[in-house]
Amino acid sequence: MTEQITIGELLTARGISRRSLLKYTAYLASTLALPPLASRAMADALASTKRQSVIWLSFQECTGCIESLTRSFSPTLEDLIVDMISLDYQEALQAASGEAAEEAMAKAIEDNKGKFVLVVDGSVSTRDGGVYSTASGKTNLEVLKEVSAHAAAVLSVGTCAAFGGIPMAKPNPTGAVPVSDIVTHIPVVNIPGCPPIPEVMAGTVAYFVTFGKLPELDHLNRPKMFFGDTIHDRCYRRPFYDKGLFAKSFDDEGARNGWCLYEVGCKGPVAYNACATMKWNNGVSFPIQSGHGCLGCSEPNFWDQGGFYKPLSSWAMGNRALIGGAAAVGVAVGALSAAMARQQRNAAVTAATPAKEKQP
Ligand code: SF4
Ligand code: SF4
Ligand code: F3S
Repeated sequence: MTEQITIGELLTARGISRRSLLKYTAYLASTLALPPLASRAMADALASTKRQSVIWLSFQECTGCIESLTRSFSPTLEDLIVDMISLDYQEALQAASGEAAEEAMAKAIEDNKGKFVLVVDGSVSTRDGGVYSTASGKTNLEVLKEVSAHAAAVLSVGTCAAFGGIPMAKPNPTGAVPVSDIVTHIPVVNIPGCPPIPEVMAGTVAYFVTFGKLPELDHLNRPKMFFGDTIHDRCYRRPFYDKGLFAKSFDDEGARNGWCLYEVGCKGPVAYNACATMKWNNGVSFPIQSGHGCLGCSEPNFWDQGGFYKPLSSWAMGNRALIGGAAAVGVAVGALSAAMARQQRNAAVTAATPAKEKQP
């Protein structure tokens, strides 16, 4: 049975001081965009909270999401597993296999009925009853229905679980769907990204453990604290976009000068994610800083939208007028004034933004 001691008791037993806990919650508070004073309240709440039981299921996925989490900087995976949660089932990380693993999951469900958090990475195969992805003789579809029936909430980590991702890309041979198409009786929080930023996954879990509730979500059920802005909103290359200074290829003078990557396919204007602020690899860099445009990997249908290296204005959005307009942009941009070109780009960005994202 999941240990019924508090996180504070566990930390004391491990020789971790309150000072260290405060340092840790100060980091969490800044990650979660909470005022500095919140860190003390978080430390008190964490210290008196029992560890959260978590069951993690992997479906049609590539293991990139769990690889990403294991590179989480702070809280580290060890912090997450040992201090805040009781990871009662996770196929890639647990020692048990075969029948012992299945027994471990059954016991974790029995001990924590209605209370555990179910984390899922990967999409769910539904074609032909879901036979294209199975484990232990059961389809992912069956397992998801069975386990989620006893969970308190689901965290869909990665674009595959959140929106179907690459397995759902055309022609979608397995009939892949996102978790939220199957689980409708309890809250489902989407943490997209291919893979998601490790600190975003860890931060969402930390918020739930600390406050005992889910964070505020946007219209796609993503935590607003991490997905409230587009990459473009926070991009350090934005001044070049505003001045109409663009790299036209990956080896031209504009690229060498660090100009905006819009014209070589950057989808930052319609990608909601925290890459431009939290970055990757312990805050070292993110795709745009490394010289490559954003692919919009945290958005629904990012693979099928097509044209990773085409300007957003020519993105295949099923809008012929938009594509025609984009060709005109490509030919005439040199002759247009910076203001006119910007107007066209902004119109293309607005047209390419899904209707719900235009809502305040
Ligand atoms: Fe892999 Fe990306 Fe799917 Fe995660 S979201 S399982 S990294 S393909
Ligand atoms: Fe940055 Fe891309 Fe926006 Fe340019 S288009 S400012 S590179 S996010
Ligand atoms: Fe994905 Fe774009 Fe971030 S491609 S990793 S959302 S910069």
